[in-house]
Amino acid sequence: MASRKLITLDEFTIEETRKFPKATGELSALLRDISLASKMINKQVRKAGLVDILGKHGATNVQGEEQMKLDVYSNDTLISVLKNSADCAGVASEENDNELCFDDSFSHDSKYVVLFDPLDGSSNIDVNAPIGTIFAIYRRVSPLGKPVTKEDFLQPGNKLMAAGYVIYGSSTMMVYATRIGVNGFTLEPSIGEFCLSHPDIKCPEKGKIYSVNQGNSAKYDDRLLAYLGYCMENKKEEGRPYSHRYIGSMVADMHRTLIKGGIFMYPADSSSPKGKLRLQYECNPMAFLIEAAGGVASDGKGNILDIIPTELHQRTPIFIGSKSMVNKALEFVANKETVV
Ligand code: AHG
Ligand code: MN
Ligand code: MN
Repeated sequence: MASRKLITLDEFTIEETRKFPKATGELSALLRDISLASKMINKQVRKAGLVDILGKHGATNVQGEEQMKLDVYSNDTLISVLKNSADCAGVASEENDNELCFDDSFSHDSKYVVLFDPLDGSSNIDVNAPIGTIFAIYRRVSPLGKPVTKEDFLQPGNKLMAAGYVIYGSSTMMVYATRIGVNGFTLEPSIGEFCLSHPDIKCPEKGKIYSVNQGNSAKYDDRLLAYLGYCMENKKEEGRPYSHRYIGSMVADMHRTLIKGGIFMYPADSSSPKGKLRLQYECNPMAFLIEAAGGVASDGKGNILDIIPTELHQRTPIFIGSKSMVNKALEFVANKETVV
């Protein structure tokens, strides 16, 4: 066989599965299904600026359907691909009020449920900044042979089997984590495959970047303001002031935080006492991934992954990223006894 350097996502996940004699390959197949949906989303994202131009010639496609907004398209694509997946028994999405439990005899025997934010950072579409898809995979806790139930979707992050994101940036990448580590795959457009480009990603223990919507400062409490003061303080010997970077797409801000180190925060404030970001399909998957890469994620009181969810769309504050930076932030914002 000709030697080659490219390892596709599929080849990689199958190789990983072989390390575990009891593994069935179902998780690999599910990751392949998610990657298929994200390639379909990517195709539309790459045309985003053209939609209006194309629209002048009739904003309907060959089936006569109207051009859909990207976040609706992304949601519909993920749902339809996962409905056809042999391994997914149901999904929950930012875009749907309730979970969707697939009610057919094949799905009744599928082991996994998937929660997702189909298009994260959608306000960035108009300005051509990176956007993403976030996903979280749990093994069902309800018995096989029946439709999945609410409790399958309300599991804490520490029960995740795998989680990750796709970033539609200057290139398209899929980054996913299992308990044994985090790997990144870049889409090779000429063959339409995600190929291993960032093996065994580790989040640097220290960082020099803090990421937060500082425009909300007037709504922050004094402890958080004290930490932001610390980030901006002129202490050259300690590497401060830190740089501030904030894209406003969690996926893009987290991708930078994972690769370069740093801290990303979406704290509670006086108008959003629970923060803005959603636990089940934004914070938990990112927390699982960052922990697998050696980082830390907290809600300011304890580990994000230990929160027992009570609602599908519940929100949580989040402080996430390089271990030493997050722990320093928690010295300011957390009650001492609850620091992770
Ligand atoms: P979504 O587009 O899925 O609703 O998520 C937007 C989120 C997240 O991507 C980002 O970190 C945050 O909103 C930005 O919010 P602010 O504009 O309030 O800073
Ligand atoms: Mn989002
Ligand atoms: Mn979204």
